[in-house]
Amino acid sequence: MANDTIKKTLTVAVLLCIVCSVLVSTAAVKLKPLQEKNKALSTKKNILQAAGLMEEGKNIDQLFKKIQVKIVDLASGEFDDSIDAAKYDQKAAAKDPARSIQIPADQNIAKIGRRAKKAPVFLVQEEGKLKTIILPIHGKGLWSTMYAFLALEGDANTVKGFTFYDQGETPGLGGEVDNPLWKKQWVGKKIFDKDWNLAVEILKGRVNLQKPEAIHQADGLSGATLTTVGVNNLMHYWLSDNGFGKFLSRIRNQGGGNG
Ligand SMILES: Cc1cc2nc3c(=O)[nH]c(=O)nc-3n(C[C@H](O)[C@H](O)[C@H](O)COP(=O)(O)O)c2cc1C
Repeated sequence: MANDTIKKTLTVAVLLCIVCSVLVSTAAVKLKPLQEKNKALSTKKNILQAAGLMEEGKNIDQLFKKIQVKIVDLASGEFDDSIDAAKYDQKAAAKDPARSIQIPADQNIAKIGRRAKKAPVFLVQEEGKLKTIILPIHGKGLWSTMYAFLALEGDANTVKGFTFYDQGETPGLGGEVDNPLWKKQWVGKKIFDKDWNLAVEILKGRVNLQKPEAIHQADGLSGATLTTVGVNNLMHYWLSDNGFGKFLSRIRNQGGGNG
């Protein structure tokens, strides 16, 4: 067949497409288990970081053995041990009408629309005492849904760490939620006031550390007010009784203290 015929050009183009698509789909199928394994490892690493348990160079699966995963029924705040926590997929549950709820418009401050009825929590116990509670929380920023782990001490009030592990805000602006310095300011902050009202607040601008309410406040992200408002709202949603509030009050009534 001569090289400059339409038939030969089309034949070569079609064959090339078939070969390339086989190569791409084979790579996608073969690499999927590896991608899933890496994603699971990355999630574990972020949970360990929020809890202050990450040690660089150490085996993540080994470190994660300190963490117990349990499922919480958000309506009651009780554990649901009938669900295999290791296999529970909260995102998939949020899309399943039988396993999720539509959030009423006046409560939808995190702008997520639906949420799963049950959520995983990650617990660290030492000598029979609850040391750390890590909560997965999420909500809309300016451009993206932002996913974070918030670690609290055993008092269910004092922040131990706060890590955004998946967000699509603008690097240098809203993306600064991932800045280690911004995250560090959260350590030691209190979510609730002495009467156990939700008191955490992110300011537009800087916190005046001389004021007593500074213990509940964090600096806003400069040039990124909309992302800041999103973070404030998602914290308020998930820490209220519409999110983990009932679970947290159950924990403190079982021995935690406000201190
Ligand atoms: C290209 C571009 C990207 C932006 N990204 C963000 C962002 O990620 N988060 C955010 O809150 N604002 C972002 N903004 C700014 C918002 O449009 C808005 O001006 C800002 O939130 C107001 O914050 P300020 O009052 O702190 O200046 C972006 C603006 C531009 C032009």
